[in-house]
Amino acid sequence: MFIDTHTHITDEAFRGEEEAVIGRALQAGVGKMILADICSAERPPVFGLCRKHPGVVYPMVGLHPENVSENWQEELSELERWLPEHPVAVGEIGLDYHWDVTFKAQQKEALRIQFELASRLNLPVNIHLRDATEDFVAIAKDCAHLGLRGNLHACSGSFETWLQLCRYGEWSIGVGGVVTFKNAHQLPEVVMKVPLEKILLETDAPYMAPVPLRGKRNEPSNIPLIAAKIAEIKGIPLQEVEETTTRNAIQLFQL
Ligand code: NI
Repeated sequence: MFIDTHTHITDEAFRGEEEAVIGRALQAGVGKMILADICSAERPPVFGLCRKHPGVVYPMVGLHPENVSENWQEELSELERWLPEHPVAVGEIGLDYHWDVTFKAQQKEALRIQFELASRLNLPVNIHLRDATEDFVAIAKDCAHLGLRGNLHACSGSFETWLQLCRYGEWSIGVGGVVTFKNAHQLPEVVMKVPLEKILLETDAPYMAPVPLRGKRNEPSNIPLIAAKIAEIKGIPLQEVEETTTRNAIQLFQL
């Protein structure tokens, strides 16, 4: 069995097809899927779908950095009301300076608050990080006392960044379709160097479909294509990637 540790089945790209998407995933051997949360509007569908598929679809809860704007404090308090429904992680949270830095200070503050929340609830964090590595490492360092553990979703950083972060918590990397791209930059090298025990599979569907489906709508059933590429890079059997990454996900998210 494979696990998709970061997916968005409630995205509008799948509207009305959610059940078929889950069915195709199960058919492909992807037995569990974790839905990444981004903001309050997303939570009723996310938790609704998880209630319908206990033991198969699991929720995270978190305010995505791109959704940090004027109302970020209200957004953070809204999040608390979903805690009784047992999200398996606080995510996706993080920093994103790629398109817009208007709310940079608020993004950093929201990240700290959600780190504290994860620590208080003893939950892992699922990190979205783009063009903000330096600030992220600084906050992780400041928060080292929280004993954070988590996953760098859609990991695009260097092996050195991962090593550095590991001084301030327990970090895995989430590997998705990008690893199959010709222009995957440093990701194959990172996958080669990071131990398999610290790697998780993810699609980030509907985005980032792996080759040969690149550019099409992605979905959790494509996880085996990503696992096969990791097996190729590491020179190990596909089954080892399947078993180890599944064990990693079950441990980290307590599935
Ligand atoms: Ni995502």
